[in-house]
Amino acid sequence: MSKRKQVKFGVLIHGVGGNVTAWRHPEVPVDASVSLPFYKEQALTAEKGKFDLVFIADGLFINEKSIPHFLNRFEPITILSALAAVTTNIGLVGTLSSSYSEPFTVARQFGSIDNISGGRAGWNVVTSPLEGSAKNFSKSEHPTHDERYKIAEEHLDVVRGLWDSWEDDAFVRNKETGVFFDPNKLHRINHKGKYFSVEGPLNIARSKQGQPVVFQAGSSESGRNLAARSADAVFTGHENIEEAKLFYKDVKYRAAALGRSRDDIVILPGISPIIGKTQEEADAKFAELTKLISIDIALQYLGRFFDHHDFTQYPLDEPFPELGDIGSNSFRGNTDKIKKTAKEQNLTLRQVALHSAAPKSQFIGTPERIANLIEQWHEEEAADGFIIHAPLPSALNDFVELVVPILQERGIYRSEYESDTLRGNLGLPVPANRFTAVNQHS
Ligand SMILES: Cc1cc2nc3c(=O)[nH]c(=O)nc-3n(C[C@H](O)[C@H](O)[C@H](O)COP(=O)(O)O)c2cc1C
Repeated sequence: MSKRKQVKFGVLIHGVGGNVTAWRHPEVPVDASVSLPFYKEQALTAEKGKFDLVFIADGLFINEKSIPHFLNRFEPITILSALAAVTTNIGLVGTLSSSYSEPFTVARQFGSIDNISGGRAGWNVVTSPLEGSAKNFSKSEHPTHDERYKIAEEHLDVVRGLWDSWEDDAFVRNKETGVFFDPNKLHRINHKGKYFSVEGPLNIARSKQGQPVVFQAGSSESGRNLAARSADAVFTGHENIEEAKLFYKDVKYRAAALGRSRDDIVILPGISPIIGKTQEEADAKFAELTKLISIDIALQYLGRFFDHHDFTQYPLDEPFPELGDIGSNSFRGNTDKIKKTAKEQNLTLRQVALHSAAPKSQFIGTPERIANLIEQWHEEEAADGFIIHAPLPSALNDFVELVVPILQERGIYRSEYESDTLRGNLGLPVPANRFTAVNQHS
């Protein structure tokens, strides 16, 4: 019997939680967002569960309305470097903004993590949705949504060019002859574009996975196009399988239309599993987790997607307000979806806000229920795998102890890592060095 297609897993480690009030749950260490032991433990639990990757999300602007985890948390590159030293197989993926960074620095930082970890690094390219970011980076204006994606495209091309600065056998390191490197295998990109001007070469070589894996998480038109053109993997979020299938098909179609193989782009929707021995136990855990979310907190949470728009100005129990373009320059994929769903389902502001701050997903229930849903989403091409947002630290542990064995038993999830690189585990090819490829053909 041929081996069944394997499901992939990542975990988003987010300290005191992605939810506004999770930090008050008895189980959550109050300093989790800045605790190396906490991050280490979560990464090792995920590695025990043979996960493909850990993911550290990031943002560049906070204010008093930001959720607790955003207020005081580790910068991704730094914490990933620490995790590289204590893990062996799991991929290490972090967010870094293409709107507020220099390609040379990004290429160097991820190139370094890729070497430190022996080929396990991944970069989640984000364009930074919050306007306030500009004020933290000496810029007078936050670029528009369209422009941010144009910058991202050029930025990513430059980073990838820099990652190929050294051909794989460029470092001769012969003590006898005194030859340290072969100058013919050292390359400058000499890039002069609209946004960046970078000569190169980069001062770090490729790792054994060739280049770090590139992730993309925007779901607007521009986000999908960037993913289809340039990403190896996509983070996304969907409320139901139908929506997830449409997204999956759309991104794979866009990639194929650009001449890429459908298998060369891995799609990972986020899920927040809450597991109980019975459905009632799981439902009770969800209720416990969300009971402290008041409508004021929910309005604040919703507001962040719309660049911290003040929703307290609207009546709560009337139809969701007409917002025009508000939100379109921020988390556009999310805000378009919120506006559309509210209209289609005739929801009030109260309903939208509470649902946004405490969504009750399908992935709440017994281990069998969660495993069944994962298998269904995977089989019906709604997902190649999942990024797990563990709503509580124990949720990751429960997932690894109770759901993973079922998936292994069913033959859709690994019992051992296939590889010690992130590309190897995700089933992605090692990209040839562009200069080696040209030399071989000339
Ligand atoms: C799993 C997941 C992780 C994300 N991580 C980040 C992140 O770390 N930083 C960020 O600014 N946005 C993050 N996003 C949001 C998107 O990257 C993007 O900023 C947002 O969707 C706006 O882009 P869009 O207008 O193209 O949809 C994430 C989204 C998902 C689904």
